[in-house]
This record gives sequence, C-alpha cells and structure tokens, in this order.
Amino acid sequence: MADRLWRRIADLIERFVPRPQMPAADTVSLRLARPDDEPFLLAMLFRAAHGDDDTDARPEHLLGMPALARYVVGFGVEGDLGIVAEAPEGPVGAAWVRLLAGNARGYGWVADDTPELAIGVVRGYVGRGVGTRLMSELLARARGRFPALSLSVRRENPARRLYLRLGFVPHAEVVNRVGGLSDTMVLRFA
Ligand SMILES: CC(C)(COP(=O)(O)OP(=O)(O)OC[C@H]1O[C@@H](n2cnc3c(N)ncnc32)[C@H](O)[C@@H]1OP(=O)(O)O)[C@@H](O)C(=O)NCCC(=O)NCCS
Repeated sequence: MADRLWRRIADLIERFVPRPQMPAADTVSLRLARPDDEPFLLAMLFRAAHGDDDTDARPEHLLGMPALARYVVGFGVEGDLGIVAEAPEGPVGAAWVRLLAGNARGYGWVADDTPELAIGVVRGYVGRGVGTRLMSELLARARGRFPALSLSVRRENPARRLYLRLGFVPHAEVVNRVGGLSDTMVLRFA
C-alpha cells in the first residue's frame, strides 16, 4: 500500500517537475515493432498493467498470467501491429495492437475482428510526447487494416485523456482484476 502511494507520488513528480537532465525527446525515432521486441513489449505491458506498482514484481511474472501474457507472447504473427520508440540508448516506449479473439480475449475485447491496444513508455520519458507520437503512428497504420481498435484502461489512469483526445470513446464499464473500475474504449475507423 505504502509502495503504491510512493509510486503514485513518483509518477506525479515525474510528470510535473521539470528535470534539467531529462533525455532529449527529439532524439527519439519510431519504427515498426519486430518479433525480437517481445521482451521489451513485455516490459511495457508490465507498466501498462500497473505491475510496477509492486516493487517486488518483475515483468516476467506476467508470463504466468495467461490473460496478460497473450498480449505479447509470440508477437509478430498476422494481425499484430506495433510501433517502438527508439532513443540512442535503446527502446523507450511501444504501442501495439493484437487480435485477441475467441477464448483468448484480452481485457478490452469488443469483437473478434477488433484488435486490442497496449502502450507503455519508460519512466524517464513519460509526459514528453512519446506516447502521443506512438499512438498517432499506430492509428495511421491501423486505419484501413482493421475496422476498429479497443482497449481497457483504469478509470483513474491519466492515459484515459490521451485515448479520448485521439477519438476513443467509452464502450463499457467493467470491474477490473484488482476490484476497481476500468473502461473498455473503442476507436472506430469507419
Ligand atoms: C500512458 C503513457 C503511455 C503515455 O505516454 P507519454 O509519453 O507519457 O504520453 P504524452 O507525453 O504524449 O502525454 C499524453 C498523455 O499521456 C498521459 N500521461 C502523461 N503523463 C502521464 C503519467 N505520468 N502517467 C500516466 N499518463 C500520463 C496524459 O493523458 C497525457 O495527456 P494530457 O497531457 O492531456 O494529460 C505513459 O504515461 C505510460 O507508459 N504510462 C504507464 C503505462 C500505462 O498506463 N499504459 C496505459 C494502460 S491503459
């Protein structure tokens, strides 16, 4: 509980307190995600799933949770589409979509033909436009390929504002795996 509170405070500091030694965001370039990005996607999924609220947890723990592991394991098959933000020191963010259908639905499922989105940016780069760039590039590439995209976001997550700004609309309200409220959101291309 105290860990979680400290994480929340660290997030707010990261977002609002200027840091003179922040890495330059203009050195970040975007590229398509590849199968060998899977470990990095797992790390970003860990951020997105709030795994780093718990200081003892590791991204690899998600591999033992089928409902989360399915967002990344075997990435690169047909229907997968992802963008990675690359800084000189390595990848610093990723946004990707994956068709999670039938019995392998994700938390943001709305239809079997609608891929689900996940996004994460490493802490040092948060709040500097990388997430917006990743999303814009991903949406541009997804348009015309899929009828819509969907996602699940916790009600209190500021990322919800990013999704609303980009055209996602709330579709359903669900109780999430920790007992809070999450919104399923959908962006329709047609
Ligand atoms: C959500 C996230 C990917 C956005 O990336 P980013 O590079 O910080 O995004 P940008 O700088 O382009 O800012 C766009 C929006 O991100 C959100 N954002 C900004 N700082 C944030 C922070 N510290 N924590 C969460 N979201 C933040 C806000 O909605 C912001 O829009 P606003 O300025 O209108 O409030 C990033 O904050 C992150 O990795 N968060 C943790 C993982 C997560 O929550 N993923 C989404 C799960 S549904």
